[in-house]
Order: sequence, then structure tokens, then C-alpha cells
Amino acid sequence: MAAGLRLLIPEEKIQARIRELGRQIAQDYPEGVLYLVGILKGAWIFLADLARAIERPVRIDFIGISSYGTGKSTSGEVKLTKDLDCSIEGEDVLIVEDIVDSGVTLSYLLHVLAQRKPRSLRVAALLDKPSRRTAAVDLAYVGFQIPDAFVVGYGLDYAEQYRNLRDVYALEEPS
Ligand code: IMP
Repeated sequence: MAAGLRLLIPEEKIQARIRELGRQIAQDYPEGVLYLVGILKGAWIFLADLARAIERPVRIDFIGISSYGTGKSTSGEVKLTKDLDCSIEGEDVLIVEDIVDSGVTLSYLLHVLAQRKPRSLRVAALLDKPSRRTAAVDLAYVGFQIPDAFVVGYGLDYAEQYRNLRDVYALEEPS
């Protein structure tokens, strides 16, 4: 039997929360350009919506990280698959991530980017699975805390499927 999808966060809730996050982020940063760094591939839809909810000048870049392959839990091995196009030295940088699970990916990325001397470096994550954290990471902005389920949709995939779904679903194993 095929795996099933259980609706976890509907589109309207996601969009309402992103509008709140956008307002908060626009207020929190001083004058100047905010540099949004989206983590490929899962964060691209969240980044597209969040960027439009932040009413102030932003620049957008992407960084590619891979740690999962096609499985459901981190291999613990993180590699950079695409670097930023521009320097972030002296910039206010907000990393935009789809989901923080073990925290391994993000702590690696924070370490890499901190060495490039941005003025500030923070994280906005749509989803946070705190129960699975093994690497401590500070999340300045979180959309939703979720229980320990494997989720798909709104940019998130399982083996490259489901990214284009508008809502977030829990992927349930066949019984
Ligand atoms: P971490 O390094 O364990 O925190 O994993 C972070 C990355 O794993 C995220 O950027 C996602 O790409 C992927 N990931 C973690 N949990 C899920 C999930 O429930 N669904 C889809 N991808 C996930």
C-alpha cells in the first residue's frame, strides 16, 4: 500500500503566519538592506512568500546543502552543493530554512557563514521539530513547532516528491 498524507498545516494558516513573521522581521532590522539566504531546495517556496511579506529592501541569494539523500533522517554528513553568488561581509543576513530537525545542517551552515563576517546572522525556519534536536541552534523566527513526524509539501519533499503541495502534510507509513 502507498504511504498516505495527513493534513498538518493548511495553506491559510501558513500564509497568515508568514505575514506575521514578515511584519516582525521588517520591524526588527535596522535601516539598510536585509540579505535573505534560502537553503536549497526545500526553502524556496517559503523564501518566495516570506520575502514578499517583508516590507523593506531585501537581497536574495541561495545556498545549496545536502545531508539527506533520499532517506528520512540525516546522514550526519553535510555538504555544500551550491555556494552564495555574493559576499555577505558586513551584511545583515537572515538564513531562510524550511525545517529544522536534528539541527546538524543548520549548525554547519551557521559555522560556514559566520566565518565570512556578516554584520548579523540569524535564522528564520518555517517548521521546527525540537524533539529531534542533537545540535543546538538558535532560531530567531519560527513559523510552527511540530511533533516528530516526517512532513512534506510547501517545498518539502520525500525523495523529491510532494514539493508543490500548498499545505504541509505528515507522511504516514503504510500499516
Ligand atoms: P537537520 O540537519 O536534521 O536539521 O535536517 C534539516 C534538513 O533535512 C531540512 O532542511 C530538510 O531538507 C530535511 N528534513 C528534515 N526533516 C524533514 C521532514 O520532515 N520532511 C522533509 N525534509 C526534512
